[in-house]
Formats: sequence, structure tokens, C-alpha cells
Amino acid sequence: MTRTSRARRSCLAVPGSNPKMLGKAQGLPADQVFLDLEDSVSPLAKVDARANIVAALTEGDWAGKTRVVRVNDWTTQWTYGDVIAVVEGAGADLDAVMLPKVQTASQVHALDLLLTQLEKTLGLEVGRIGIEAQIENAKGLVEVDAIAGASPRVETVIFGPADFMASINMKSLVVGEQPPGYDVGDAYHYILMRILMAARTYDLQAIDGPYLQIKDVEGFRRVAGRSAALGFDGKWVLHPGQIEAANEVYSPTQADFDHAENILDAYGYYTSEAGGKRGAAMIGDEMIDEASRKMALVISGKGRAAGMQRTDPWTPPEG
Ligand code: GLV
Ligand code: MG
Repeated sequence: MTRTSRARRSCLAVPGSNPKMLGKAQGLPADQVFLDLEDSVSPLAKVDARANIVAALTEGDWAGKTRVVRVNDWTTQWTYGDVIAVVEGAGADLDAVMLPKVQTASQVHALDLLLTQLEKTLGLEVGRIGIEAQIENAKGLVEVDAIAGASPRVETVIFGPADFMASINMKSLVVGEQPPGYDVGDAYHYILMRILMAARTYDLQAIDGPYLQIKDVEGFRRVAGRSAALGFDGKWVLHPGQIEAANEVYSPTQADFDHAENILDAYGYYTSEAGGKRGAAMIGDEMIDEASRKMALVISGKGRAAGMQRTDPWTPPEG
């Protein structure tokens, strides 16, 4: 599996200090889990949580999910110990390390170097463990291009809205919702677009952060729908009730998937010798060309990754 093709529509947060949740998460239909050592774990429980996470990764059955551990950020005393404990204990059962509150490319380099040393020492394939970079403050956003390009290990750029709102002094405590008083657009548009541009520049996935009103699944869908519409690949989920909504919102609709697959087939045919070697052609009432093929590839790729099947195949014209 290439780095960018990993499924991440729903990224489930699981506190590393909670063995019950570490067990339950294994059976849930999230594309990704991230076992947390950072903000969902009390400072007093962080060191012990490392062993819970190692046990869950090595002994658990994660059923094809993308397995990630979020370590503490480099301004704390815990980062190196988190990485060493988790990779020494479960490096072969880990797909990526999530680095929160990233502010500079050098913080990504530091993690990359530490992972390389661990992989060499432990006889693991060098470079296999990926990095997920969480952008959670103004400095991180200003540096996001360099962060996204800092290492071939980087797989995703993630928006961390709660810390970000605090960092920029946004006048709201409701994560993901619009701050009261800002009634002229989406207060998160610039941030989301900035992250998306950096991610796409380096062929990485862009992931939206948490929605804290966990009982309000419609609210989750509304907020997720915005980043999905822009092109984001997935969103964090904090509760089992949000998983299905995320998997749906970040997958194409059946109609869009069918249409994309049909564009690919029709364009393949019309550009071929048999189809007349055309650069532009009609499918129904719509003119398609090379740019249509590229757009269709994106939708088709997301649908196939989600296991979708085409229901309405295109057939070449007779004769
Ligand atoms: C997530 O870590 C956030 O701060 O929103
Ligand atoms: Mg955060």
C-alpha cells in the first residue's frame, strides 16, 4: 500500500490510558485509529499509557485499519520517550506516528531521524513508518509548506481546530462551528485551503480535525461536508456514532462514482484508434477532455478505495 492510498475517511481517537477503549476500538469500522499519548491523556498517566499502546498494537487485531500513535509534541519532555517506547515495543505493528503542534520543518526532521535510528537498530525497514503532521497554531500554518515537504515519511497534514482556535484567539469555544459575530463566510476557509494546498503540493492526504459535540451527528455531517467538498480526505472521529457519517461524507456518492468511472471508460475509448483518436468527446450532454479524466480519476480513486462498485456501466456506441 502506498502512503497516499491508505484509507483515512474516519480517523478514530483512542486515549492510550484507557485499555477498555483500546480494546473496543479494534472492532469499530473506522478506516484509521490513532492511539493517543497527547491531549486525551493526563500528564500523570502518559508514561504508563505507552505500555497500554504497545500491548494493544502487538496483541490486538486491528483488521486492516491504518494504525497510528499520537506522541506528545517536541516542546514537552515526553516526545523522545514516547517514540522510543512505541517503536521499540510495536514498530512492526505501526503505520505512522502523529506529531501534534508541529511548528517547523526541523521538528519533522527530528522525528524522521529518531525513527530512522530506531528502524536501523531494530532491523525494521527504514522509512516504512510514516509521519502525520498536525497543524495547530499560527506558526505551524505559516510554515505548513515546509512542514509538508520536510520528509518523504509525511503522509498527512491534519487540521487541529481546538488548539488552533486557542492559538489565534478566536472568540469561540465551540470547536468546528463558526465563531459568533463572523457572519460573512466560513471562518475556517483560509486555514483549510492553506492546509489542502500544502498537502496536495506534496501528494499527501489532508485530514480535518475533531468535532466535539459528539451527540450532534448532523452537526458533524455539516462541518465534515465542508472540508470534504473542498477535497479533504477524512476527519477525526471521537465517538463510534461519528464513524459511519465520516465514511459516508468522505466517499463519493454512488452517482458521482458511476459517472467518474464512465468518464474514464468513455474518454479511454474516444482517445483510442477505435474511438477516433479524439481529444474531446461527448458523454450524454457533457463534453469531456483530459481535464475531465483527471477529475474523474480522483472520484474513482476515492470510491475504489472505499470499496464501491459501479452500478451503471458505459458502453461504446454501436458500429
Ligand atoms: C486536536 O488536536 C485539536 O486541537 O483540535
Ligand atoms: Mg490539539
